[in-house]
Amino acid sequence: MRTSTLGLLTTALTGRGIALISPGNTGRLPAMGWNSWNEYHCDINESVFLTTAQKLIDTGLADLGYVYVNIDDCWSDNEKRRDANTQEIIPDYARFPRGISGLADEIHSMGLKVGIYSDAGTGTCLNYPGSLGYENIDAHTFASWGIDYLKYDNCYVPSEYNDEYFFDPEYIKDNSPPGYDWGTSKSAQRFAAMRDALQEQNRTILYSICNWGQAHVDIWGNKTGHSWRSSGDIIEEWTGRFEFDNSWGITNIINQAAFFWNATDFWGHADWDMLEVGRGDLTIEENRSHFALWAAFKSPLILGTPLHDIQDSILEIISNRELIDFNQDPVYGFSASPYKWGYREDYTYDPTYPAEYWSGSSVKGIHVFILNTQDRTVSMTASFSEIPALRDNPTATYLVHDMWTGEDIGEFTEGYTVDVEPHDTIALRISLPDGGHPNPTWSPR
Ligand SMILES: *[C@@H]1O[C@H](CO)[C@@H](O)[C@H](O)[C@H]1NC(C)=O
Ligand SMILES: *[C@@H]1O[C@H](CO)[C@@H](O)[C@H](O)[C@H]1NC(C)=O
Ligand SMILES: *[C@@H]1O[C@H](CO)[C@@H](O)[C@H](O)[C@H]1NC(C)=O
Ligand SMILES: *[C@@H]1O[C@H](CO)[C@@H](O)[C@H](O)[C@H]1NC(C)=O
Ligand SMILES: *[C@@H]1O[C@H](CO)[C@@H](O)[C@H](O)[C@H]1NC(C)=O
Repeated sequence: MRTSTLGLLTTALTGRGIALISPGNTGRLPAMGWNSWNEYHCDINESVFLTTAQKLIDTGLADLGYVYVNIDDCWSDNEKRRDANTQEIIPDYARFPRGISGLADEIHSMGLKVGIYSDAGTGTCLNYPGSLGYENIDAHTFASWGIDYLKYDNCYVPSEYNDEYFFDPEYIKDNSPPGYDWGTSKSAQRFAAMRDALQEQNRTILYSICNWGQAHVDIWGNKTGHSWRSSGDIIEEWTGRFEFDNSWGITNIINQAAFFWNATDFWGHADWDMLEVGRGDLTIEENRSHFALWAAFKSPLILGTPLHDIQDSILEIISNRELIDFNQDPVYGFSASPYKWGYREDYTYDPTYPAEYWSGSSVKGIHVFILNTQDRTVSMTASFSEIPALRDNPTATYLVHDMWTGEDIGEFTEGYTVDVEPHDTIALRISLPDGGHPNPTWSPR
């Protein structure tokens, strides 16, 4: 630990208090791109990222907005670690012969952006060099390499940085006294130190906090970063919690989002973790639900599937223009929110059967997302008297549009009922019959 750390933390506490607003609208909307971790873990090298960058372009994904090519853990030289004189992290030149800056130059020349990974501890999760105490040096290094995005993890935190109290995203585990300000926690200080270091650089770097929802990051995330992970790691399973990395299936994370959707708005997004669409043995319906709901939550959309042999059915899901447009809406920043749990009583905390009925707003109308959590086909209804933005005028006739097919379904009064396959999600846009917005000033808060 270097002594400069304490000075940095003081700056963080007294410094720039309000939300992280960056030039060029960076971070105003959820980030979109690709990250190496889910598929490759530590088995990365320059060609993984160059192949991915080319594929983002060839498949049309880059044109849809997926522009960040993000390097996750294991990119540095784990033996040499830092330069003895400059203290800069040394890249693994065996995997990245031109260094990270050479790779970044090439990815930039393809019109894309580059992300890197570090950690608010002494080591990354695989114990490569971490940035705690080296925030200024590392932020400067990343900026000088042309980095555009930093994912900042939470492993190897020395004991003197342990928080006084404990908050786990299973929010029932909170032992802080009433009125405690989590924004003063040591976790908040560690992540603010890197924010301040990034802001000193002459380069805009999107700041993606990854502390798994701990220390109530939903409270201080907006003033500290552009996004913050809000749960343990995702795994390519529909449901369940797994010992491996304390990872969570898809429904566990949906359940979490049902209680923390309101921390998301412009400039600050709860990050429900990188997409597993196209990985593992999800069904096509589960692939669809995972993508539709992450888009609806305004989570960053960071792909994890390898692109070199991507199946057409998966490419079609992640290329859905209407879902992406909802995620990237320029006027309505809030996440979709649950208006009815459905299978379970409202506000039930159930990681297997989370809230099924969600709604949100976009420039094009009111949107409804209906998830079938059950293992059988269920007839489900978007009832106009229940949807918060429509219930003041429930007898009106509305035009219902299917965001999956991109086609109008027809005009309906009272509601629209449809059979939903097990674990599938119906995505609807509801407007006035002439296409007008039914309730442009509605907000869930
Ligand atoms: C780069 O990594 C990929 C993915 O792990 C691997 O298939 C490939 O063989 C590696 N290439 C080199 C030159 O090491
Ligand atoms: C900051 O970066 C811009 C664009 O890269 C450059 O033109 C400018 O000279 C830099 N400013 C400083 C103070 O280095
Ligand atoms: C979100 O909801 C929780 C629980 O109702 C509340 O304590 C919190 O202040 C809300 N946050 C925002 C940003 O509105
Ligand atoms: C986060 O900060 C931005 C910028 O100040 C603000 O527009 C947004 O509403 C904030 N988010 C929440 C949930 O309050
Ligand atoms: C859904 O994604 C899985 C990976 O999670 C993939 O193996 C499967 O082929 C996909 N299903 C279909 C029908 O495309």
